[in-house]
Amino acid sequence: MPNQPIAAAIRGRLLSFLRAPAGPGDLDSVRCIDDGLLLVGADGRIAAVGPWAELRGCVPDGVTVDDHGGKLVLPGFIDTHIHFPQTQVIASYGAQLLDWLDKYTFIEEQKFADPAHAAANAGFFLDELLRNGTTTAVVYGSVHPQSVDALFAEAEARGAGLIAGKVMMDRHAPPALTDTAETGYRDSKDLIARWHGRGRQRYAVTPRFAITSTEAQLEAAGALLREHPGVHMQTHLSENLDEIAEVRRLFPGARDYTDVYDRFGLLGPTSLFGHCIHLSEAELARLSESGSVAVFCPTSNLFIGSGLFDLATLSKPQRPVRTAIATDVGGGTSYSMLRTAAEAYKVLQLQGQNLPALAAFHWMTRGNAEALGMADEIGSLEPGRWADLVVLDPHATPAMRHRMMTVAGDLEEELFIQVTLGDDRSVAATYLRGRNSHLRQQVA
Ligand code: GUN
Ligand code: ZN
Repeated sequence: MPNQPIAAAIRGRLLSFLRAPAGPGDLDSVRCIDDGLLLVGADGRIAAVGPWAELRGCVPDGVTVDDHGGKLVLPGFIDTHIHFPQTQVIASYGAQLLDWLDKYTFIEEQKFADPAHAAANAGFFLDELLRNGTTTAVVYGSVHPQSVDALFAEAEARGAGLIAGKVMMDRHAPPALTDTAETGYRDSKDLIARWHGRGRQRYAVTPRFAITSTEAQLEAAGALLREHPGVHMQTHLSENLDEIAEVRRLFPGARDYTDVYDRFGLLGPTSLFGHCIHLSEAELARLSESGSVAVFCPTSNLFIGSGLFDLATLSKPQRPVRTAIATDVGGGTSYSMLRTAAEAYKVLQLQGQNLPALAAFHWMTRGNAEALGMADEIGSLEPGRWADLVVLDPHATPAMRHRMMTVAGDLEEELFIQVTLGDDRSVAATYLRGRNSHLRQQVA
């Protein structure tokens, strides 16, 4: 029984993970309440979760139950790597990483010097996340601090929590897109002071990648982390072979790419490294030992032609590297974590590996929350967590409806269909703090 005022009540098939599934068939890892009720307190946090039959009496007069019937109600998806200034870079043709950055990305990101452009795009960006059921994201801004101000302001207005940072880049980019070691440090510090810990917002120190930062700037990024315990760090690591060769040329004293970051104190449990495709055993050992997180961005890795994320090697039990999964829009080609998990499955299949449906859903929710060190806040349907939810329709498209006719009560099979065929059309509704923030338009 909840012991606080109830502000919202959501009924449906409630699905939430208790731990990481050991493999296919591990249904003990998940709690599914076929006819469940989730009660939300006035603070936007989950007050109680249980069977409808047990909790229905707790819905106060004046609170209407949002009844989602046979649809699945899950913790909102978490996207652990996405670029805010790349909403108009997505779907840019025919280039691999370094050319793609020069030809498309570094052109588009310059527009975010304009606060009006940043504000308009922040609205679109949050709309698109919510339309896809993503309620928390870890976001790269542009080099301009005003882009991150616009993003956080939009998230705050909607009750969403972001982890975001201004990109630090002081070389090998157009002059209009570079800061300096000093201004990058100062602007990041000011943003931390303005936004980190304000409501739900958190900061990530964001040196873009080794190629675009001098040693002085990486040193400054390390200083920011030391001076502000609790902020995250995000960057790119070992995505593309030409990138790796260039890093070797620029940092001849470093043992390897990972060591470039390690030397400046950038590894650790709050550090997120996008891609991690072409790593040596020594690098994997160091990432594991430091508790750093490797972020798998499958649609991006396929689209930019970067390579295949080797989950089995990363996860070797004798030196496991923590992992997360993400869209990496605009190198990535979809805002949907469902599409992302579907491509992850294929990337792993190409290597003789696998991604069971339970593991995919765990990863997008509780797994990513754990990777961010935020499992006590988001990622599961438990009292005290934020009531950030996604409602998924198992019959969202004709193909899904048709395929679902063959499924007789097998949760794993239903979830696999959702991962493989689902996308933004599957998202019937998205809630932030128990408030409906996106409701799919019903089309006749
Ligand atoms: N490496 C450095 N910057 C980027 C970026 O914006 N996208 C991707 N995919 N890789 C990068
Ligand atoms: Zn990226």
